[in-house]
Amino acid sequence: MRRFGDARDWFFRKRFGLFIHWGLYALHGWHEQEQWRRRVPAVEYQNLREQWNPTAFDPEEWLDLAEEVGMEYLVFTTKHHDGFCLWDTKLTDYNTMHTPYGRDIVGMLAEACHRRDFPLGLYYSIVDWHHPNYPNQGRHHELPRPKPGDQPDWDAYMDFLRGQVRELCTNYGPIHAFWWDMNVPEHGDPSVNAMIRELQPAAVINNRGFDEGDFGTPERESGTEGDPAQPFDRPTEACQSVGVESWGYREDEDYYTDRHLQRSMTRYLARGANYLLNVGPTAQGLIPTRARAVLRRLGDWYARVREALVDVEPCSHLTDNRDVLLTRRGNTLYVHLVGDPVCDAVKLKPLAIEPKSAIMLNTGEPVQWAVDLLPSEHESQRPCLRLKRLPVSEQATTVLVAKLEFVHLPPGEAGGGEQQSDIRQS
Ligand code: GLC
Repeated sequence: MRRFGDARDWFFRKRFGLFIHWGLYALHGWHEQEQWRRRVPAVEYQNLREQWNPTAFDPEEWLDLAEEVGMEYLVFTTKHHDGFCLWDTKLTDYNTMHTPYGRDIVGMLAEACHRRDFPLGLYYSIVDWHHPNYPNQGRHHELPRPKPGDQPDWDAYMDFLRGQVRELCTNYGPIHAFWWDMNVPEHGDPSVNAMIRELQPAAVINNRGFDEGDFGTPERESGTEGDPAQPFDRPTEACQSVGVESWGYREDEDYYTDRHLQRSMTRYLARGANYLLNVGPTAQGLIPTRARAVLRRLGDWYARVREALVDVEPCSHLTDNRDVLLTRRGNTLYVHLVGDPVCDAVKLKPLAIEPKSAIMLNTGEPVQWAVDLLPSEHESQRPCLRLKRLPVSEQATTVLVAKLEFVHLPPGEAGGGEQQSDIRQS
């Protein structure tokens, strides 16, 4: 995979991040796009700011939880589509300073992150349902028409946006990511990212802004299509929320299963992508109890299997079994059982070499193996490496990961051919 070769390379070492969607929409706890999806009149929505007073917000608690779960960076919504700003911006008074709370949330969060060297990324929505110059005209994720009193003017809006980006990239110390969202007009302008790069050289920039940026951003399962054996060909960060319906706080949220999240995470991390997992704090500033429980269980699994997902090379091409994904570090091979296991064994054809040891990372228990000819392989007459008696029923809600150590694990090559002979026993 291409590296950047500069301060942005932190992104390849820290692979699992916490995404946080927080704003006025947490007050009703329905969805972060409540204003648009429930057709709330702008004036009514804006009045929510009079109730914005998240007295229980403690950035240290968010970071403690992130660290406990094994997350290594944070991306935070400074301004979502509703246009409400969570920092002390001088460019609109639709911000957290002009509320009963009256404190600079981005500032508080940035200070807490800097105290523990925790990289902070900033999310910024280009579409804006509040700013009078943003040309809302009913495209997807836009209000159907300008609000009374609006003066749609793209150039004026871009001046405002640049000014805000400059504030965010100047007033809060080192920023490690700039996370654009919803460039609805699909406007191109490389000078905006150029400004971020000048002000914040360690910041990776995503591809949802005004140019291609540094990395792709598949959402939920959208990036798991295609050949699962192929690593991503550009830096990638998948994003996913713990809840099915919403990114912002949703009181009546339906949460993903542990196994779904483990699979989703494996399908991205094992192919070289980062994983950004989102929660939506309540209007008080607390991460909801059920979301915390989901994260903690995922963190428990991740702590056990992390070595198979970080600092490894994707190498699923070593087998033609598409129910598993493979990663390796030198002569250590990791077998991720991402498919739904139909039996208690995994065949790793055409691999046919014996490991010197094998354990199940999830439990630390030894794994049994054999390299032999199976009745079902009578046509090829080729023995293959098989892991057997795996605890698939006992651990039915878990993505199991086996760790195999070899004396020499050859490179092999996607698509078979000459070089594959060395992964078979002679
Ligand atoms: C989707 C949602 C948006 C959210 C984003 C995060 O685009 O519509 O609300 O902020 O995902 O990637």
